[in-house]
Amino acid sequence: MKRILKKNINTKVRWNKLLSTGEWGKERGKFYSKIKNFLPKKKKIKALEIGCATGHGLIELAKTFSNIKFEGCDFSENGIKHAKKKYGKKINFFVHDVYKDKLNKNYDYILIIETLEHLNNPKKVIKKYLKHCNKLIVTVPYKEKGWKEHVYSFNEKSFNDMEEFKRYKIIKTNKDKKILLFIFEKQS
Ligand SMILES: C[S@@+](CC[C@H](N)C(=O)[O-])C[C@H]1O[C@@H](n2cnc3c(N)ncnc32)[C@H](O)[C@@H]1O
Repeated sequence: MKRILKKNINTKVRWNKLLSTGEWGKERGKFYSKIKNFLPKKKKIKALEIGCATGHGLIELAKTFSNIKFEGCDFSENGIKHAKKKYGKKINFFVHDVYKDKLNKNYDYILIIETLEHLNNPKKVIKKYLKHCNKLIVTVPYKEKGWKEHVYSFNEKSFNDMEEFKRYKIIKTNKDKKILLFIFEKQS
């Protein structure tokens, strides 16, 4: 795990601006469908996505998995406002800041999709949310060289020093983009 951005520009003001119209991420369903193989098909479980933006990706999973009760959260009030308006009947959304807020519920799964690379202290974030779930699924861009909003670049070995880390998978999302999917489990 390598820091590639000195100053983290991912402020709430910035994301509220990006998510102000509700258009951002309209195409995310296709990306989220790549995660389907890692979720249980039958078992009735509760799952939370942290950093769900306007929920355009999460709804794709909610439509497929009637056995999973999904919730989504994000620190952008604009993102959550649009998510509630569009998908609030199917998914419970709430405002939650990873750095400032405590989670007052537990889940079977927590998902952090294309968000960890925007955050300071990724390992601290993983440990925080593993206290609230049995399984944590994280996706990040694979070996990224640099993107203005991405604070860290990850490779296969990024979490080898964490005992909660179980396995990874490299997934091709389109012609020239690969992501890393990491699975962590709570230590018993
Ligand atoms: C690149 S977007 C990914 C959105 C969505 N998961 C997807 O893949 O389409 C990153 C998301 O992380 C959220 N985010 C950034 N910092 C956050 C924080 N400190 N707490 C909660 N959410 C945060 C942003 O508002 C944004 O919605």
